Amino acid sequence: MANSLFRTKKISSILSEGSDDSHGAGGLKRVLNVRDLTFFGIAAILGAGSFSSLGTAVFHGGPGVVLLFVITAIACAFTAFCYSEFASRIPVAGSAYTYAYASFGELFAWVIGWALIMEYSIGNIYVAFSWSDYFTSFMDRCSIHIPHWLSTSYVEAKNAVASHGNPEDIDAWNNAPLLGSMRIILDLPALLINFLITYLVYRGVKESRNFSNAMVMIKLGVVALIIIIGGYLVFSMGTTHNWMPPDDSGVKNFMPNGFGGVMAAVSSVFFAYIGFDAVSVLAEESKNPQRDLPRGMVLSLVICTVIYILLTLVLTGAVNYRNFDGVGDPLAFIFEPQNLNVPWMQLSVAICAVVAMTSVLLVFQMGQPRIWMSMSRDGLLPPVFQKIHPKYKTPSFATIITGLVVGVPILFTDKTFVLDFTSIATLFAFVLVCGGVLLIPRREKEQGRFHIPFINGQFVFPLIVIGSMLMAYSLSKNYFTNMFNFDFSSNKDYTEGKISFMDAATPNISLIVFWFSALALSGITFVKKYSLIPLMGLITCMYLLTGMTKSNWAWFLGWLAIGLILYFLYGYKNSKLAKAAESEMANPTSHTGPDFLKE
Ligand code: ALA
Repeated sequence: MANSLFRTKKISSILSEGSDDSHGAGGLKRVLNVRDLTFFGIAAILGAGSFSSLGTAVFHGGPGVVLLFVITAIACAFTAFCYSEFASRIPVAGSAYTYAYASFGELFAWVIGWALIMEYSIGNIYVAFSWSDYFTSFMDRCSIHIPHWLSTSYVEAKNAVASHGNPEDIDAWNNAPLLGSMRIILDLPALLINFLITYLVYRGVKESRNFSNAMVMIKLGVVALIIIIGGYLVFSMGTTHNWMPPDDSGVKNFMPNGFGGVMAAVSSVFFAYIGFDAVSVLAEESKNPQRDLPRGMVLSLVICTVIYILLTLVLTGAVNYRNFDGVGDPLAFIFEPQNLNVPWMQLSVAICAVVAMTSVLLVFQMGQPRIWMSMSRDGLLPPVFQKIHPKYKTPSFATIITGLVVGVPILFTDKTFVLDFTSIATLFAFVLVCGGVLLIPRREKEQGRFHIPFINGQFVFPLIVIGSMLMAYSLSKNYFTNMFNFDFSSNKDYTEGKISFMDAATPNISLIVFWFSALALSGITFVKKYSLIPLMGLITCMYLLTGMTKSNWAWFLGWLAIGLILYFLYGYKNSKLAKAAESEMANPTSHTGPDFLKE
């Protein structure tokens, strides 16, 4: 049994299923070039993270959040190299799921596919909620008022009443119409945009691509305007002192809440980067996936990183970071009368936010069905998930199911919950992708294909780990001892950014696991001479995971447990690998279907 759980799919077998000059497997059209893929990347990356949750991030960390954007960008860049290596070797749809199947085996592949539902579908719930916030306020500016009980979630309104929170949500609770004894509170705009996006994706990639490219142009234009006008005003109005705000003891500080404040923003900042990997699910629709997928991923990541750094600097230069408490539309907020006072920019930002988030929704809603399609081809999901629409050439059934998976929870969840859930699951998938690259055999360089440059990690990686441990120790002598004594994930002062990461002396199990894993990995690398880039991707993503709270982990592990039950009920028995192995055993001389197990 153990062997069959870790049965891997041969890369050549995966490729033979997805090869055709003009069409990928199952008849998806090959129409996307490097520009389209880069645009898809930007379409997926720039969205709710920058337009919505950036305000909270800045409130926690002050201008120093720029540092977290840089750290996260480095982690994502290493990961993008790993995705690119895989995408260049296995240019078929399925993303991290397919890669895990080739490197770790079937059980991990299933686990990744299951975790990716968080990134692609649950992440879209957060974006849909944020879309609704901006859309509602945009309509307000046009004097069309959508009642609050029709534009907030039931859970948010209920929580607001319990915690005496947002007055608008309390108002929604008090004024909602009743159906029997039940209050009717639902986020109608979020539901509607989900319906529209599902329809668009169902209709086909070409139409979606044109729509997406246009939206990316608009959002890049408005973001450039925010940076240029905002940046100019920061200097001309002389507010650059906001970059060094006084901390609690009155000392001017780029990180007024210490590194702890900066790290408290990890979920929001990481969410802002999710999306570059979505490019990889379009392998079967891209004209030259081996060359263009890596370029599309890396280019979109670089462009968005530059944008995030500039946006954060403009934001924290224009307004003191403390003023972002509870601000859900930070990019519009800086242009309000009490701040930079540019009313027409407020409106432009609101329109742009709606456009930006629509494109994020579109990309993820396209990605999810393609992952399910791959899983279904492998027999881990029922065959209906690979059904291609005869006219539109899209995975029609899987697209409709995606619409339901995003739409139904909109009725039962709230923003904070889905944000954390998405970030932890995506980081987990990134860890496995980077680890996977370490497990696949090295190969010769080939013209026109992407390769991760090989840098021997034998000595460098252990030195980096030991150097980091020494640095942590020199910054706080109690760092390692405290790690075993305190619970930083439930340390209120830390999560509120009042004390620094080092001072909070983060305790939690995930940090302990992190350092032990880093040491173990150093030892293995010393023996096996692993490549440095995937190692750095692995370790930086693992480090970001230590910022997740215990309740995030509990929910995530619960989700994985449900996934495992489903795997044993269906996938384990119906897997094509399992069937190929069975028929091989029954008739050792016969060769039916792709030969996964041999080669
Ligand atoms: N990075 C995407 C966004 O910020 C998920 O909306």
